[in-house]
Amino acid sequence: MDLDTFCREMPKIELHAHLNGSLSRSTMVSLQRYLADLGVKDKTNAFIEKFQMSSGDSKTLSDVFPLFKIAQELTSVPESLAMATAMTMQEFEEDGCCYIELRSTPRETSHMTHKQYIETIVQTMKNDKFSIIPCFIISINRSSPKNEVEMITDLAIEYHKKYPDLVVGIELSGNPAVGKFSHFLPALTRSREAGLKVTLHCGEIPNPQEVTEMLKFRPDRIGHGVCIHPNHGGNEEIWQLLCKSQIPVEVCLTSNVNTKSTLSYGSHHFKELYNANVPIVICTDDKGVFATSLSQEYRICAETIGIDPSKLVRLSLRACDYIFSDDKKKNVRDKILNFINKNAL
Ligand code: IMP
Ligand code: ZN
Repeated sequence: MDLDTFCREMPKIELHAHLNGSLSRSTMVSLQRYLADLGVKDKTNAFIEKFQMSSGDSKTLSDVFPLFKIAQELTSVPESLAMATAMTMQEFEEDGCCYIELRSTPRETSHMTHKQYIETIVQTMKNDKFSIIPCFIISINRSSPKNEVEMITDLAIEYHKKYPDLVVGIELSGNPAVGKFSHFLPALTRSREAGLKVTLHCGEIPNPQEVTEMLKFRPDRIGHGVCIHPNHGGNEEIWQLLCKSQIPVEVCLTSNVNTKSTLSYGSHHFKELYNANVPIVICTDDKGVFATSLSQEYRICAETIGIDPSKLVRLSLRACDYIFSDDKKKNVRDKILNFINKNAL
């Protein structure tokens, strides 16, 4: 089996995918047509071209944030949000992903409330036409005002109580240059006490003090973790804190390279994490914006970092330990073990 086929056929787990950043070009075109038929005004027409980046792009992390608004414009109606969720899950399924924790920031639009936003995604995920197992992580944006953060937290807790197997976590994302982690501590603590798992975008830009506060909070996972190792804008103290904590890191290779958080795949902090035995999960972040897929991220990991197929599949297997839905772990692990046995890996 060639590497491409291997990476596609290997059962994989996606734990860090933002819904609106994951929309493929074809999904965006379908949503645009659907909105046009509904007669909903859509201002994105000319901008779909600008949504997808390539590695040669001169954009930085802060240039990327305005891009999400293009996709968000297309998911501002419950029906198109449901379509976007279903089509994105379908694309992950076709790429060999057997379990996904899709995340999204509830938004109020002129067509729906925050609650309807959550309800729409939940109802779409409950539809059993998928063989991929979906879960929902509710996102909090660092730019949101306190009242919105508290309201989204209340909804996350309410929906976790109602659908404990589906609404499994809460996360903090958005522009890392905006807002302070300490402002979100009460909401995140409340969520954790209510049984939600927590993951945080951590160390996307150099900020050792915030990384320390985040790691001391002991989230269940962190996203990116770029600027933690001393070679990548962190320092020895926070690096040791991460190594000792054994908090799993959701690694997003192409996202980091395309936003210039990392110079190249070859110099990605994956190596330091891997060599220090810090738990790693390979993820896509925003497969639409960064023109990637989960199987492509595994292939890039093999080609640029030199992780061979038998180790790749063990990374996928180990990721089962870090999923937020305890009762789905066994099912997912069995799928990966079957693949290992069938291919004598
Ligand atoms: P949504 O939450 O489904 O609307 O997905 C898009 C949102 O995810 C963006 O507006 C950001 O808040 C968040 N996001 C996507 N990628 C990143 C990232 O690389 N760093 C931080 N936040 C991100
Ligand atoms: Zn992210």
